Amino acid sequence: MTKQLISPDGNLKLNFELLDNGTPSYSLIYRGKIAIKPSKMGLELVNDSKSLLNDFIVMDSIESSYNETWKPVWGEVKEIRNNYNELKIVLNQKGLERTLIICFRLFNDGLGFRYEFPTQKNLVYFVIKEERTQFAMANDMIAFWLPGDYDTQEYDYTESRLSEIRNLFDGAVTDNPSQKQFSKTGVQTPLMLKSDDGIYINLHEAALLDYSAMSLDLDDKTFILETHLTPDALGNKGYMQAPCHTPWRTIIVSDDARNILSSKLILNLNEPCNYQDTSWIKPIKYIGVWWDMIIGKGTWAYTDELPSVKLGITDYKAVKPNGKHAANTANVKKYIDFAAKHGFDQVLVEGWNIGWEDWYGKSKDYVFDFVTPYPDFDLEEIRDYAKSKGVRIQMHHETSASIRNYERHMDAAYSFMSENNYNSVKSGYVGKIIPRGEYHYGQWMVNHFNYAVRKAADYKIMVNAHEAVHPTGLHRTFPNLLAQESVRASEYHALGGIKANHSTVLPFTRIMGGPLDYTPGLFETDISKYNPNNNSHVNSTICNQLALYITVYSPLQMAADIPETYEKYMDLFQFIKDVAVDWDDTKILEAEPGRYVTIARKAKGTDNWFIGCVAGEDGHESTLNFDFLEKNKNFKATIYCDAKDAHYKNNPQAYEITRQGITADTELKLKAASGGGYAISLFAE
Ligand code: NOJ
Ligand code: CA
Repeated sequence: MTKQLISPDGNLKLNFELLDNGTPSYSLIYRGKIAIKPSKMGLELVNDSKSLLNDFIVMDSIESSYNETWKPVWGEVKEIRNNYNELKIVLNQKGLERTLIICFRLFNDGLGFRYEFPTQKNLVYFVIKEERTQFAMANDMIAFWLPGDYDTQEYDYTESRLSEIRNLFDGAVTDNPSQKQFSKTGVQTPLMLKSDDGIYINLHEAALLDYSAMSLDLDDKTFILETHLTPDALGNKGYMQAPCHTPWRTIIVSDDARNILSSKLILNLNEPCNYQDTSWIKPIKYIGVWWDMIIGKGTWAYTDELPSVKLGITDYKAVKPNGKHAANTANVKKYIDFAAKHGFDQVLVEGWNIGWEDWYGKSKDYVFDFVTPYPDFDLEEIRDYAKSKGVRIQMHHETSASIRNYERHMDAAYSFMSENNYNSVKSGYVGKIIPRGEYHYGQWMVNHFNYAVRKAADYKIMVNAHEAVHPTGLHRTFPNLLAQESVRASEYHALGGIKANHSTVLPFTRIMGGPLDYTPGLFETDISKYNPNNNSHVNSTICNQLALYITVYSPLQMAADIPETYEKYMDLFQFIKDVAVDWDDTKILEAEPGRYVTIARKAKGTDNWFIGCVAGEDGHESTLNFDFLEKNKNFKATIYCDAKDAHYKNNPQAYEITRQGITADTELKLKAASGGGYAISLFAE
């Protein structure tokens, strides 16, 4: 039995087939070329000799089409078209009389499919041992991959052939709490692939809810990738109760890398916004009492008396302060002044609350209560001062991955925020999950992350989650999930290093799932100037740092460096002040994973555009064409570009700022250095 589905524009063809033993299988053709070879589908169940793998017969197949345009609460574009042809294959398992539906949605830019388990007598409660969905690649493609891990994505990407992953695997791992459970060819998604004949394929998942996050195991003889779900403490991978379904498996395909970046397939596979009122959800530009701690100068903790504290017992006023506590009233007020002066919405303050001395990687169950400030952080004074300056403080909840503790305190913590004029929280999940044995990417944690976001919405609070599971477009449904980290973010420039091409890979990988709190804007590239004990170097030119505000999509953007440094570079800082954080339109001008990305975005509600280009080791020369601008309109452009002799390694702070008029007919040649970039602001006249 075979069945074919064709995309609205005819470029993609999906073939569904039931193999001889009743195993479902699919393949995908893009413009006559094989994107995915015949690949098996199904699920292996715990305590079930039959599983949901074979002996199926097709009972029915239902085709439909969908075409709508919807408006995101915030985003890269004002309107998103959701246009697909759908095929539902209704399968019945012989003898067991169990129904499994496979739902395919074929868009012009790719395929989404999921397993659906309707209400039925013979399949109600079941436990997944492993999902067995294959993605059979046509050949030994080039992959941009992260090593498999159930807890972290905070790695550099490796670029290699699929066949080379095994040999490079150990070198790609820098911190691997759950590594043991992966073969040497397990990789994370979003996985970006490229074939020698110029086909780009991106594999990921959409709408990950009440299910474990997916990684992929590679058979490096056949180039078949297969789903590898995150287990729980017992080794089980999913607890299901029909009616239910899996997340969508996504395959975005194009022969032009730019189309991978402009794809809205993952968002389109998520449900519409879950909230009636979204007027309280607003993009945020912020600075923070933060970089000081990351570079090892200031501390989160108030005292060095270790271990000194038992929450709720110790009188902090009795312990000796270490003199390096950054979240003190005077320092926070200085940041508020800087934010107010330069038009930032918020100041993130980390280390404001008691508990950091006891935590520091020890992750006990009761550490933070999220409502008790340190004695040198005058909450009321800071709150009122910030309010008088029109700035908000961004709350910080480091949970130390102690999930029950956070959930126990959550209502009190969010109420406390509402009472004290906070409307956003940066949450963090550093360390091994408590209860022990659970992983950051398991079903239990997937449910926690979503619970925290929905609960926050009850209090009109926006969330910026760090160390959370990879994003899967859920911000369409829950737009108060403004951004996540879930990546090797800028902090690694001061904590072990980041490859120079990282920023050219991120849009094709991590950012495919959703916005990133990347914390760009590092102007001081020699960290030892701040802290003689930290010899880190920022592997990026200063202009690359500016471009990140465009190439790293997020409605939450930080200027991560310290005010004293920005004071020295006010000419460059102007770009960060000017750049928008919400957009009506986006044009991907140039893109090649690992090499360069150039994007233009139109600021929400204005005629102004901003452009960013980031380059990898080889640098990049652009010939920019402005035909996306409105005709017959003049724009005043400021161009912030690497100087001719700039290089991320030995001359990262060399830049040139030029000004000129630009119209839709202008052509401009610009050169990004190795690890460099450029940024342009275009103000309509
Ligand atoms: C790791 C986060 O990524 C970082 O931004 C934060 O400052 C620390 N955890 C402390 O919570
Ligand atoms: Ca982190």
